Amino acid sequence: MCIRPVLASIVACAAIFAASAPARAADDIVIADFEGADYGGWTSTGDAFGSGPARGTLPGQMRVDGFKGKGLVDSFVGGDKSTGTLTSPEFKIGRRFIGFLIGGGKDAGKTCMDLLVDGKAVRNATGPNDRDGGTEALAPASWDVSEFAGKTAVILITDRATGGWGHINVDHIVQTDHKPVGWVADAKRRFHVTRRFLEIPVKNGGPNRVVNVLVDGKSVLRIDTALADGEPDWWAPMDVGAWLGKDITLQVDKLPEDSAAIGAIRPVDTVRGPADLYREPLRGQFHFSPKRGWNNDPNGMVYFAGEYHLFFQHNPYGWPWGNMHWGHAVSRDMVHWEELGDKLVPDAMGPMFSGSAVVDWKNTSGLGKDGKPPIVLIYTAAGDPAVQCIASSTDGRTFTKYPGNPVVRQVTGGNRDPKVMWHEPSKSWVMVLYVGLPGNKHTIHFFRSPNLRDWTLASITEGVAGSSYLFECPDFFELPVDGDASKKKWVLAAADTQYATGTFDGTRFTPEQTKLTGQRGRGFYAPQTFSDLPAKDGRRVQIGWFQTETKGMSFNQSMTVPLELKLTATPDGPRLTYTPVKELVSLRSRSHRFGRSMLEPGGRDPLAKVKAELVELRAEFAPGDASEVVFTVRGAKIIYDARKQEISVAGHTAPAPLRNGRQRLVVYCDRTGLEVFASDGLAYIPMPYQPKPGDLALSLEAKGGAAKITSLEVHELKPAWKTAAR
Ligand code: FRU
Repeated sequence: MCIRPVLASIVACAAIFAASAPARAADDIVIADFEGADYGGWTSTGDAFGSGPARGTLPGQMRVDGFKGKGLVDSFVGGDKSTGTLTSPEFKIGRRFIGFLIGGGKDAGKTCMDLLVDGKAVRNATGPNDRDGGTEALAPASWDVSEFAGKTAVILITDRATGGWGHINVDHIVQTDHKPVGWVADAKRRFHVTRRFLEIPVKNGGPNRVVNVLVDGKSVLRIDTALADGEPDWWAPMDVGAWLGKDITLQVDKLPEDSAAIGAIRPVDTVRGPADLYREPLRGQFHFSPKRGWNNDPNGMVYFAGEYHLFFQHNPYGWPWGNMHWGHAVSRDMVHWEELGDKLVPDAMGPMFSGSAVVDWKNTSGLGKDGKPPIVLIYTAAGDPAVQCIASSTDGRTFTKYPGNPVVRQVTGGNRDPKVMWHEPSKSWVMVLYVGLPGNKHTIHFFRSPNLRDWTLASITEGVAGSSYLFECPDFFELPVDGDASKKKWVLAAADTQYATGTFDGTRFTPEQTKLTGQRGRGFYAPQTFSDLPAKDGRRVQIGWFQTETKGMSFNQSMTVPLELKLTATPDGPRLTYTPVKELVSLRSRSHRFGRSMLEPGGRDPLAKVKAELVELRAEFAPGDASEVVFTVRGAKIIYDARKQEISVAGHTAPAPLRNGRQRLVVYCDRTGLEVFASDGLAYIPMPYQPKPGDLALSLEAKGGAAKITSLEVHELKPAWKTAAR
């Protein structure tokens, strides 16, 4: 069935209406399906076709797909250099079309398939490839042969090419009265840009298409996306504001002839949301997630002029990872976020991978303007070579890439995720950069710069005691131990939150011990801390990528709540603790506070009457005789095992020592995840979790004996999204 394109001028739908099948279509006649061990009545010459059909990909060939069944014609036998022909037995043309699957080289005389009538070639087809790269996929194609009805014909498959793409793939040749749906290569549509966005129809899980945006014939943006041929799951806004008043062309590598995709793309002034934007069933209500598309790492976290800036790895055009842009959101309290649109877009240097941001207060970079210091973003352009680049802004809204990029050239292909800070004692910028070395060796390279533009390698931190060291997304900051400014330690941390404490002389980090474990849960990765929080604030606040998969939504993944990091002295040495920031208090709508009590096994459940969708639960207890203290929060069991001093969250267990005989627990529950804090923040256990929408119950019980509850409160929370109606 043809899905009608929105605009009539587009691609090939019209063709299919015109060529619709006659009223009484005869059955298809299979000319060859190439499923046998040999070519049957076909005759072959030369060596390119071997003695029978290939069974998929041949040795040395890129993966061949798109054929039907198990066998196909593949003239790559012996590689590209072999040549030959394959000729069908004579057959009578008895249907309107001959349909087939074809792939391989694109040379009408040398890698091709011909239809011969009376010994003359009357139709010709080739594969799609005439340059390096490309694809070994076969695609459907057809010939209209109605004018030869009743004539005797032969099909000739030829491989006379010996260089790159010197082969041809063919399968499933049929005579049919139904016009087979073919493919359009490089389908194009021109737009005169009068509106800020083009809305792109996306089908989650659909086949990938490569879309190029061409301006004056040159590609200015290349994205991969699952374009919806029919009804889309959602619309991805493509910001084309940079080309207002100009003509741009969208070019799609290939589309089924009857696809509505390119015709459905619509120019709009403002991004239209689904009616339930921010209230979708799997939208975290107080965890940041992008309106549309995928997010991973937080990037460029910086505080400037009263605003917290959160950039993030964003795929605006798909539900899975890809097309890395830097999305951008701002907040006045780290809790209520407003998404502002993508600020770093892939360019000729590659996709925009993770990095950080600083305020260049002294305008060392010269990128400030009119006495205003710039925010400078330091990011990885992950092309080949993979390099570090900068971009800047004096208004926190418009960011300009530095014309002198890159600022750090490729070290190895695996260098990425620069985190930059101002080091006051040595009056220098310091960058920590992840650099993967051959042999799966992970290193952190330290660079120094006077101006954020010129960087020199200062030192390299390698594996400690033979262990492979910190991997990806390093962060580096100084914290007092137990709040004592005279006892400060440097913390070098990585994407999985493993970290080391140590000293730093402006050039070299000296770890004090081997790496330590940070968070204790699941689905937490690549966190980053804010730069430039005011000195009077004094906090170090981190946000992590919360891997909360949201199937069926127009967005995927989210961020954790903001976490205050501290170093706490323990008998084993200083350790990181995690505390949800105090600003989250503003989410409380209704609070239930309970007095001290003894919690007896089988006794009264203090939480029996509390119902909440978005939950903050705080409890302090001494386990006493209880072997277990069990909280149930919307179906999730949070079990404190008093003997083992362990906590288990939805089946995942982590150490959680008592502190002065007490356990203090904080639990946040949103639509996509739990975050549990125990042992005064020594145990932070994030956990992707989707409570059943109807299950709003909470409960608390003791097992094996009575526990002493010294404090218990539950706060029902409001959504953080400003537009969420309640
Ligand atoms: C970590 C990471 C980074 C990289 C980014 C790409 O999740 O792999 O190392 O910069 O994601 O999206």
